Amino acid sequence: MPDVRAVWRSRVFEAVWGAAYNYGIEHEWLSAPIGRVVFGSDVRLLYDSLRVVGEMPDGSAILDMPCGGGLAFRGMRPEQDVRYVAADISVSMLDRARRRAAQLGLDGIEYVETDVESMPFPDAEFDLGVCFNGLHCMPDPAAALVELTRTLKPGGRLVGDCLIRDVGRSDAYLAALRRLGVFGPGGRLADVERWLTDAGLRIDRLERSGALAHFAATRGV
Ligand SMILES: C[S@@+](CC[C@H](N)C(=O)[O-])C[C@H]1O[C@@H](n2cnc3c(N)ncnc32)[C@H](O)[C@@H]1O
Repeated sequence: MPDVRAVWRSRVFEAVWGAAYNYGIEHEWLSAPIGRVVFGSDVRLLYDSLRVVGEMPDGSAILDMPCGGGLAFRGMRPEQDVRYVAADISVSMLDRARRRAAQLGLDGIEYVETDVESMPFPDAEFDLGVCFNGLHCMPDPAAALVELTRTLKPGGRLVGDCLIRDVGRSDAYLAALRRLGVFGPGGRLADVERWLTDAGLRIDRLERSGALAHFAATRGV
């Protein structure tokens, strides 16, 4: 079985897959039909979820893990005065995120290369964590959520989405990417619920749209 961490760290992989993925996800005219046909999903729910970033008051601290090419940056308001940390295991994805921030005229974002399971942040550092399209790419999503929760302040929120298994036509696609080491083991909707709860989060929203599970949860005080 290929090592999923090594795959995502590879610059060659990123240059091909990362570029293609990122182009698709940044262009709704492309992601909408792919989402509908391949995943049976309404991707508008994803773009709506990104607004949570812009809803954070000045002075907040936000962790975007994995930031990828900076999809969630579009949620920021230009005048928003927050600490925004964009973290990812892939140096090339972080470079892509930097270019995206420059395009959007966003200054002051901190970029951190790290594995989700061993992040260099103190406990209770962030008011909001966002984790979009990431858990299915990680080798141990339950461990990733424990670590993400550790970095949240009590009462802090985690918002995101991930692909889930055993949902119709996308399953063969997910299985193929698991075999290639692009995706980790992933899970079903009930697994996402268990991972969130076991990490110490109270689930505020868990909604499935085709093979995409959208979640919002709060760390207990
Ligand atoms: C499909 S992209 C999603 C990125 C972005 N959030 C988005 O929605 O476009 C998945 C990202 O997860 C990152 N990733 C994969 N495994 C990781 C790990 N173990 N720790 C941190 N990031 C990881 C990859 O480098 C990639 O940027």
